[in-house]
Amino acid sequence: MKIVILDGTHNKSGMTLKLVDKFLAGVESVGPRAEVVTHDLLNGNISFCKGCGKCTEDKDPVNAKCMIVDDEMEAVKQAALSADVLVFATPIYEYCVSSAMKRFLERSLTLVTFKFGPTARAKAIKGKVGVVICSSGAPFPFNHLMGITRYPKFMLNLACKLYRCDRVIMVLAGGMAASPKLKNKWEDKALNAGKAAALGFSE
Ligand SMILES: Cc1cc2nc3c(=O)[nH]c(=O)nc-3n(C[C@H](O)[C@H](O)[C@H](O)COP(=O)(O)O)c2cc1C
Repeated sequence: MKIVILDGTHNKSGMTLKLVDKFLAGVESVGPRAEVVTHDLLNGNISFCKGCGKCTEDKDPVNAKCMIVDDEMEAVKQAALSADVLVFATPIYEYCVSSAMKRFLERSLTLVTFKFGPTARAKAIKGKVGVVICSSGAPFPFNHLMGITRYPKFMLNLACKLYRCDRVIMVLAGGMAASPKLKNKWEDKALNAGKAAALGFSE
């Protein structure tokens, strides 16, 4: 089982990556042999989308190409496409995903077609799991009621589809830094998400 982690965090000792660690512990507890590859979306060489729109011209129904070729985006994209379990990890900044994650999502426009509204060019791969791990300052339910999770939830669900996941598991944590009780609660949820993602891959 290949797990690819798209690390969109800016604080490498923050809550989001603590949840990723718990998620991996959950996978390990179920027992499938896992290869784990992490891509650091903040410090990796990923350029911003130039907005040229060439990738949206739909010349090839599935394999749209980005005009920017001198960075790591294509390699990260191919790694994410080849994963069995794909993890999007990001803090919530300004009611949104982090700017590192957003830059990556903008460059993922090559996977979108607008023929029937924004949809994935390629079909889902049976059994492929997308995992969304987010951490906000506001705790549940305020993070949902105030709309803080609205865009991250929508965009990362779409991103899972673009990267051909047919099942999505979401851990939208909140308030972890302020309360040890909440920290434990969300770490347990991330652990269980790891178990759920690994089911079906264990021998
Ligand atoms: C620049 C910035 C913007 C933030 N914006 C929000 C926000 O809009 N809503 C919220 O609930 N928390 C917000 N937070 C708090 C973070 O989401 C929270 O601290 C989260 O746990 C950070 O993840 P990390 O611990 O992995 O770095 C913000 C934090 C920063 C640094």
